[in-house]
Amino acid sequence: MDLVRLIYVSRRTDKFKQGDVKLILDSARRNNAASGISGALYIHPNYFIQWLEGEKFQIESTYNRILVDPRHRDNKIIDYTPVKKREFFSWSMGFLGEIPETSPIIRQIFENSTFEPYNMSGEDGVEFLLALRDLAPMT
Ligand SMILES: Cc1cc2nc3c(=O)[nH]c(=O)nc-3n(C[C@H](O)[C@H](O)[C@H](O)COP(=O)(O)O)c2cc1C
Repeated sequence: MDLVRLIYVSRRTDKFKQGDVKLILDSARRNNAASGISGALYIHPNYFIQWLEGEKFQIESTYNRILVDPRHRDNKIIDYTPVKKREFFSWSMGFLGEIPETSPIIRQIFENSTFEPYNMSGEDGVEFLLALRDLAPMT
C-alpha cells in the first residue's frame, strides 16, 4: 500500500458556522473510516490545518472533495509525502482545538509568536500537529 501524508492550511469563510465543527467531524469520521484515512483537524478562529494520511488514491479523492467545500478557501498544501507509518492511527479524524498549551507550541514554531499558517513549512506543520496530538486527547 502506498501510504502518503497530506497537510494543508486553509482560511475559514463566513459560511463556516459554529455548529459546522460537529458536522465536519461527523462526516469526516464516517467517510475516512470507510476509506482507511486517519488524521487530525486543527481548528483556529481563522484557519484550519489538517493532516490526512492513508492510501494515495483515497487521500487524493478525499482532498479533492474537501477542497471544494465553501466553508474554507485559499487551501495550500504544505506537505505531501510518502510515509512508512501512520501517526494518527486510531483517529479517523481527531479534533485539535485551542487549548492553553497551544501558545508555547506556536511561540516555539513562530519565533515572533504571530500565528501565520501560510508561512509554515511542511516540517513546521508536522511538528505543530504532533505536538498538539501529544497534548490534547481526542474529543
Ligand atoms: C476544514 C474541513 C475539513 C474536512 N475534512 C474532511 C475529511 O477529513 N473527510 C471528509 O470526508 N470530509 C471532510 N470535510 C467535509 C467535506 O468537505 C464534505 O462536506 C464531506 O466529505 C461530504 O460528505 P458527506 O456528504 O458524506 O457528509 C471537511 C470539510 C472542511 C471544511
